Amino acid sequence: MPSLPVSSDDVTSAAPPSGEWTPDRWRDRPAAQQPDWPDPDALEAALAELRRQPPLVFAGEARSLSEQLAAAAEGRAFLLVAGDCAESFAAFSADAIRDKLKIILQMSVVLTYGSGVPTVKVGRMAGQFSKPRSSPTETRDGVELPSFRGDTVNDFAFEATARRPDPSRLVQAYHQSASTLNLVRAFTKGGFADLTRVHAWNQEFVASSREGQRYLALANEIERALRFMAACGIDLGTETLHEVDFWVAHEALLLGFEEALTRRDSLTGDWYDCSAHLLWIGERTRQLDAAHVEFLAGVENPIGVKLGADVAPDDVVALCDRLNPDRRPGRLVLFTRMGADRVGDALPPVLRDVTAARHPVVWACDPMHANTFTHASGYKTRRLDDIMREIEGFFAACDAAGVAPGGVHVELTGENVTECLGGSDEVLDEHLEERYETMCDPRLNARQSLDLAFRVAELLRR
Ligand code: PEP
Ligand code: CO
Repeated sequence: MPSLPVSSDDVTSAAPPSGEWTPDRWRDRPAAQQPDWPDPDALEAALAELRRQPPLVFAGEARSLSEQLAAAAEGRAFLLVAGDCAESFAAFSADAIRDKLKIILQMSVVLTYGSGVPTVKVGRMAGQFSKPRSSPTETRDGVELPSFRGDTVNDFAFEATARRPDPSRLVQAYHQSASTLNLVRAFTKGGFADLTRVHAWNQEFVASSREGQRYLALANEIERALRFMAACGIDLGTETLHEVDFWVAHEALLLGFEEALTRRDSLTGDWYDCSAHLLWIGERTRQLDAAHVEFLAGVENPIGVKLGADVAPDDVVALCDRLNPDRRPGRLVLFTRMGADRVGDALPPVLRDVTAARHPVVWACDPMHANTFTHASGYKTRRLDDIMREIEGFFAACDAAGVAPGGVHVELTGENVTECLGGSDEVLDEHLEERYETMCDPRLNARQSLDLAFRVAELLRR
């Protein structure tokens, strides 16, 4: 059984000795990307409500994930982080959650089969609502309104009332996260993710494609291998095949929300942000002395940091020193998102300096966020080829530096959308408008995701 963190009451029960980290310590620091909440009383009421809610995840689970990430840091496991750019209140449904799980399970099987090591499965799910924005306002036809910051903050519709930040959305996001996590736990522990059901994850529109057929062949091989093992008398009725570990992650952007869900673990006395297993700091909020780093430095969950191509290697080492001073393997994941054209130059010095400083990080590639461009039609999109080129550049740089390529981080959906260009059933320029449904960044559809998994598996096989 995972250890239960104490109730929210204990968070504030004892005054900490001065200097000790507390979940509100970030409040003394500049916090980028926080909404301008118009009504402070309503915000406080929402945060008080969140402080009363049960934790979404347990400290013991976060520790198990750290152990698996420690293996990924050494090349004994491979990390797959995948899900929406932004979850939404409107697109919330059991089917959408199931379909996202199906594609992540399919990708994991492909990766594990190729690499021969376990895939650590992490969903950008059950809490990935809040978005950093390049500009606080958006102007259309001369009308300027606050930018959409994710469903935790305001509404996507371009209207003054819709764009007004509303803290009751924080509470709604908590409840949607709880329902999502409940279903994810049921699916992954209740038989749906059983390896003997490997065929059932191939959705119809995927099965008809080239990569769907390739998946079918692999599923047949796995089935044959399972039959062979059973025939040899190996007991397949074990938990190992019937249940999978599935973790959830999001960007820890809205610090009031994260603070309200941070609890002290009753077993160890350590603080955990119980809103997700893994939390990451985005490219726009990773300033060393600012609020986001201050907050995440104090919680014991595994932490990710996004690194763009302009990052200074010194700053990365300083971030590692600050977030993982004890150099604990499994504590820190560095998600590099440098772009297909820049990864070859920008990544090697970062790999070199972090390795020289003996920081045992998981190196993972987010090949999405620096390969986004606005298409002539006005849609924000990405090319699967650029995404793959960045992953190949990442693998090459890791190989040259003698470090394990530890994982990939992708934005995808289980649905048949047309948001990213390319793939074997090619999404062409003129298809973008057909099913462009994301509220934020363009996602790979299930076929493109499977295609990517096969190509990454080939890189892992080398
Ligand atoms: C994201 O992961 O959706 C995101 C905004 O990433 P980054 O901070 O790397 O731009
Ligand atoms: Co995104």
